Amino acid sequence: MKGLLLISLFLSTALAAILGIDYGQQFTKAVLLAPGVPFDIVLTDEGKRKDTSGLCIRNLGKNDLERVFGSQMGSLITRFPGNSILDLKQLLGKSIDDPTVTQYLKNHFVKLIPDEGRNGIKFDLGFNNSTLEFTVEEILAMNLNEIKNRALNDLEANPQAAVLVEDVAVSIPPFATQATRQAYLDSLVLANFSNVLGLVEEGSAVALNYISNRKLEKEEYDNVKRYYLVYDAGAGSTTATLFSFTPISIGQSVLEIESIGFDESFGGKALTNSIYSLVLEKFLNHFNLEESDLTDKIAARLHEVSEKAKLVLSVNNEFHTTLETIFDDKDFKVSVTRQEFEDINSDLMEHISNPILKALEDAGLKVDDIESVILNGGSTRVPFIQKHITSLVGDNKISKSVNTDESAALGTTLRGLKWKTNSVSNKDILLVEKNYHNFEISINGQDDEIVVFPKNSPVGNTTKVNLGKLQDNELTISLYEDGKLIKSYNFDDISTRTKKLSCKSKEDKEIVAEFVLDDNKMFDIVKVDLVCGSKNGGSFFNKLLNKEKDNDDEIIIEEAEEAEQGSDSDTTDNKNSNTTNSTKSTTSTTKKSKSVYVPIPKPVYPHTRPIGRVAKKTLFHKLAYLNAQDEIKIEADQIKNSLEAQCYQLRDYLDENEATLLEELSSDELEKIGQFVSEVVEWVDFESDDSSIEELKAKVGEVEEQFAHLKNIAEMTKADLSKEGIQKLFGDSSKLIMNIQSSMLEFGNKIAEMRTKYEDAGLDFEKENERIKQKLLGRGQDRMLSFEKNLGVYKDVLTEIGKVLEYNEKKFSQLSKQQLYSYHERLAKGVADMLGDIIAIETLHLERMELFESQFEKLLERKRQQEYRKKLREAQKAAKEPEEDDRVEIVEEDEEEEQVFDNEIPKQSPEESSESEPSAETEPEVEPEDVEHDEL
Ligand SMILES: *[C@@H]1O[C@H](CO)[C@@H](O)[C@H](O)[C@H]1NC(C)=O
Ligand SMILES: *[C@@H]1O[C@H](CO)[C@@H](O)[C@H](O)[C@H]1NC(C)=O
Ligand SMILES: *[C@@H]1O[C@H](CO)[C@@H](O)[C@H](O)[C@H]1NC(C)=O
Ligand SMILES: *[C@@H]1O[C@H](CO)[C@@H](O)[C@H](O)[C@H]1NC(C)=O
Ligand SMILES: *[C@@H]1O[C@H](CO)[C@@H](O)[C@H](O)[C@H]1NC(C)=O
Ligand SMILES: *[C@@H]1O[C@H](CO)[C@@H](O)[C@H](O)[C@H]1NC(C)=O
Repeated sequence: MKGLLLISLFLSTALAAILGIDYGQQFTKAVLLAPGVPFDIVLTDEGKRKDTSGLCIRNLGKNDLERVFGSQMGSLITRFPGNSILDLKQLLGKSIDDPTVTQYLKNHFVKLIPDEGRNGIKFDLGFNNSTLEFTVEEILAMNLNEIKNRALNDLEANPQAAVLVEDVAVSIPPFATQATRQAYLDSLVLANFSNVLGLVEEGSAVALNYISNRKLEKEEYDNVKRYYLVYDAGAGSTTATLFSFTPISIGQSVLEIESIGFDESFGGKALTNSIYSLVLEKFLNHFNLEESDLTDKIAARLHEVSEKAKLVLSVNNEFHTTLETIFDDKDFKVSVTRQEFEDINSDLMEHISNPILKALEDAGLKVDDIESVILNGGSTRVPFIQKHITSLVGDNKISKSVNTDESAALGTTLRGLKWKTNSVSNKDILLVEKNYHNFEISINGQDDEIVVFPKNSPVGNTTKVNLGKLQDNELTISLYEDGKLIKSYNFDDISTRTKKLSCKSKEDKEIVAEFVLDDNKMFDIVKVDLVCGSKNGGSFFNKLLNKEKDNDDEIIIEEAEEAEQGSDSDTTDNKNSNTTNSTKSTTSTTKKSKSVYVPIPKPVYPHTRPIGRVAKKTLFHKLAYLNAQDEIKIEADQIKNSLEAQCYQLRDYLDENEATLLEELSSDELEKIGQFVSEVVEWVDFESDDSSIEELKAKVGEVEEQFAHLKNIAEMTKADLSKEGIQKLFGDSSKLIMNIQSSMLEFGNKIAEMRTKYEDAGLDFEKENERIKQKLLGRGQDRMLSFEKNLGVYKDVLTEIGKVLEYNEKKFSQLSKQQLYSYHERLAKGVADMLGDIIAIETLHLERMELFESQFEKLLERKRQQEYRKKLREAQKAAKEPEEDDRVEIVEEDEEEEQVFDNEIPKQSPEESSESEPSAETEPEVEPEDVEHDEL
C-alpha cells in the first residue's frame, strides 16, 4: 500500500472522498478513501468490519416504518421472517417470472410481487399500502444510503476530512446482465450518490488489489506476461477471473483481465441450503410432521442453524445444537457431521471446478500456465471446496495472501480511484478490461445480427455503424447481448425526419448510428443520423465506420433543429452514454457529410425496464421521507434517554436533600413529587411510542420545571431572609446600580474627551462619529435597549424591596418565605441580565474608541497633506503666474483615496520640501536613472 500515500496526497487536492462498496449477497464491506482519514473499512455502528446485506422493515402502526439495517437485525430475522429482506443481490435486474425468483422464495419468507409496468420485482411486506411496497432497487438504495451516512459520520468525526461522499464505486458480479447493471445504477441514484464512478467487476477488484499489494524488486520488471486466477466463491455465486500482469518497467505495468468462468447458482447459500435439507428432514422426522406443517418462523430458525452448521463444519467434524421450544413448546436437538455435509454435496464437485476450466478454456490456457490462484470469498474456506481446488490446480499454486475477505472492497475503491484520477494512476498500473459478450444489433427485426462490439474487445468505446439504406421509411434497431434481446428502439419519427433530407437522385438515404459500450459495459445507441450515400457505392451494412466518410457532394440539407431529446432515456445516469448533445456536433464538425439527426425514442424492453426518470424522483422522495422518519426516531430516542436520565437525577436529588426540603415542604408534597417522577419514567417506558417530538419535549420541560422548583426551595432554606438579611441585599444591590451607572458615565466621558481631541485638532468629530456608527451598525443597538429595560426592571424590584423594608416588624414577619426569597431570585436574575448587556456594551465601547483613535492619526495625516498641497499650489501659482497652469490639475485631490496620498507623502516636513525643491516633487514618477537601466 505504499502507493496509497501518494494517492491520498493527490486526493487531498481533489477534496473528495471515494467510497468503494462490496455489496455481497450475504455480507457488505465498504472502504473509504479520503484525505485526513486512514484508508480503511467503514465500520458498522457496532464496530464490525462487515455487515449483513439486507434490512428488516416493520410497520410500527400508522404507516410508521421502522428500518433495522444489517447485522443489527439480529433476532428480528427469525422473529419477523416476512419483514426481513436478505440475499437481495440475486434478485437485482431480474423480472418477476425469472426462475431465480422461484428459487428465492423456497428459502425466504418475504412476499414478492410484480412491479407493474416494468416487469420488475417488489417486496410486499404486508403493510396493505401500495406506497409502502419496495422495489429491489429501493432496498439496495436503502442499504447503500445507510453506508453513505456511516461514511459521512466517520468523516464528520475527523475535522481534517472533507465532508463529502459523492464518489462511489460498487462491485458487481462479472456476469451481471445489462438489466442487473442498470438496477445497480438506478439504486445508486436513489441512494443519493451524485457521482457514480462506476461498477467494478468483483474479479477485477480482487486482481487490482492483489497486484497493488505486491512489491516488485527492480529485476522483476522483466516485461513478461504472467497469468493469475482469482477464484471467488461467494454466498450466491462462484466466479473465476483469469488475468495477466506484465511489469514493463518501474512505474509502468499492465493488468489485463483475460477471461471469466462462473456458476451463477453455486455458492455458500447453496451449501447452507444443502444442510437445511438435512436439518429439515431430521426435524420433520423428529416431530413426525409434513413439510406443509412448517411455519415461516420455524423455517427461518432452521435456516439460521444451517448457516451456523456450515461455518462450524468448515473447522470441526461435527455440529450439535439444541433449538429450544421450536415446536409445540418442545426442544429439538440437531447434529450434522462433516461427512453428511460432504456426502450431500458430492454431486456438486463440477460446480466447483467448472468456472476455472471455463476461464482457462476461453483464454486458451492450461493450469500449468497459471502462476498462482487467489482464493476469495467465504466459501473457499469450506474444506471440501478447498481440497477440490487444490487437487485441480496444485497445492503450490494457491496464493497465501492474508485477509482476502476485504480485497474486493479495497480493489473496488482502487478501481474507483483510477476512474477519478485517470491520468495519474494509469502511469502506475494500466488496467485493461474487456467485454465477455458479443454485443449485436438487428434492423427492422431482420434475422441477421450485426456484431457491434465483439467479445474480448476493450470496453469504454464508441463506434459508428452504417446501417445501410433506409427501407420503407421504417426503422427499428434492436440491441442484443450474445443473441439475447436487450431492448429495441422504434423510430416512429423517421418518416418526418427523412423529409428534411434531400439527396441527389443518384444517392440513397442511409442510416448511420453511433453505439457505445461504456466502462460499466452498458451497451446503447448514442446517436442516429440519416445521411446521403452514393447508390451502389456498396452497402455499408455490417461495416464499421470509424473514420468520417468524406463526401464532397454539395447537396443542401436542411439543418436539423436543435436536439430535443424528449426521450426518458434510462441511460442518462450511465457514464459515457451522453445522448444530449449529438445534433450540434454532427452538423458542425462534419459539415461536408449531409445528415439529419434522428431523435432517439424510448426503448422497449423485453425483460425488466429501468426505473423511469419521473418514478425515480418519486422513489427518491419516498426514501428521503423514510430517512427523515428515522432521524425523528433517533431524536425521539435521544430525548427519551435524556428524559429518563433527568428523572433519575431528580429522584437522587430528592433522596439526598430530603431533610432540607422537608423544612419547607410537607412529606405529602415530597411524596407527590416522587410519584410524579415514577409516572414519567413509566410513561417513557411504556406509553411514549406514539408521542411526537413536541410531546416529548413538553415532558422534559415539566421535569425541568419541577427540578428547578426543588432546587429553588433548597436554596431558599440557605438564604438569610431576616429583615437584616434583606436590608443587606438591598444595600448591595443599590451599590451595584451606582457602579453600573458610573461606568456608563465613564464611557460617556471618554467619548467627550475624544470629541475635544478631535475638535482641538480641527477635525470633524460628528462626521467620524457617524461613520463609525455605520461601521458598527446593528451591533450594540439592541444591547443598549435591553440594558435600559433590564435596568428598569431591576430598579422596580429595588423599589419594591425598599417599601417592604419600611414595614414594621409585625407586618414584615407576615411575609411568606417564598415571597422574600423571590426578591433574592429576581435581583440575582436582574444582575445576570445586566452583566451580560454591560459586557457587550463595553466591548463595543472599546472598539469604538479604538476606531476613533486610529482614524485620528489618519485624518490628521490627511489634513496635513491637504494643507501641504494647498501651499504647493499657491507657491506654484505665485512662481509661474504668467504661464498656463495645467499642472494644478494633476494635484486635484480625492478625499477618499488615502492610499495614494500615503505613497506620495514626502518624509520631510511639508514646509521644507515645498520651499527647497518644488519642481522635483511635482514629477516624482519620472525617475530618469531607472528608466535607463531598464532599457539597456
Ligand atoms: C400509505 O402510506 C403512505 C406513506 O406513509 C401514507 O401517506 C398513506 O396515507 C398510506 N395509505 C393508506 C391507504 O394507508
Ligand atoms: C387494506 O386497506 C384497504 C384500504 O386501503 C382496506 O379497505 C382493507 O380493509 C385493508 N385490509 C386489511 C387486511 O387491513
Ligand atoms: C472500438 O470498437 C470498434 C468496433 O468494435 C473497433 O473497431 C475499434 O477498434 C474499437 N476501438 C478501440 C479503441 O478499441
Ligand atoms: C452530457 O453533455 C452535456 C452537454 O454537452 C453536458 O452538459 C453534460 O455534462 C454531459 N454529461 C455527461 C455525463 O457527460
Ligand atoms: C458532445 O459535444 C462535444 C463537443 O462537440 C463532443 O466532444 C462530445 O463528444 C459530444 N458528446 C457526444 C456524446 O456526442
Ligand atoms: C443527498 O446528499 C446531499 C449531499 O450529501 C445532502 O445534502 C442531501 O440532503 C441528501 N438528500 C437526501 C434526500 O438524502
